Amino acid sequence: MLTPKEPFEGQILPLCNSRDLQDSAEAVPFDVIYGGQTCLAFAVRYAGTVYAYLNRCSHVPMEMDYQPNRFFDITGHWLICSTHGAMYSPRTGACHGGPCRGGLIRIATSERDGVVHWHTAPNLQPVNF
Ligand code: FES
Repeated sequence: MLTPKEPFEGQILPLCNSRDLQDSAEAVPFDVIYGGQTCLAFAVRYAGTVYAYLNRCSHVPMEMDYQPNRFFDITGHWLICSTHGAMYSPRTGACHGGPCRGGLIRIATSERDGVVHWHTAPNLQPVNF
């Protein structure tokens, strides 16, 4: 007999201060458990809004920033992987060019009272120390 699944109770966790993220500037890194594994993630601000993704290129699952926390290309409009140049939309994580095999894995965020938060999901959990 089928039993209804427990509803997922998400958490909203503080990530950084709003002022730590400037438009098209350096990212703030954070750790998550994705699919049971500890993974790096990052948050950026683009055109005033904060977005967060796993720091994992869709071409080869490796970190994208050659210089720590630098993901934007020279135009400030695209997130670029330093290894082979895959480019992603900062708004959606969708592939914009280069050798992408899909898009980036998005992490929901929100901003309130000068603090940026990230939202857990069934496959995205906080790292517990
Ligand atoms: S690993 Fe990112 S473009 Fe190849």
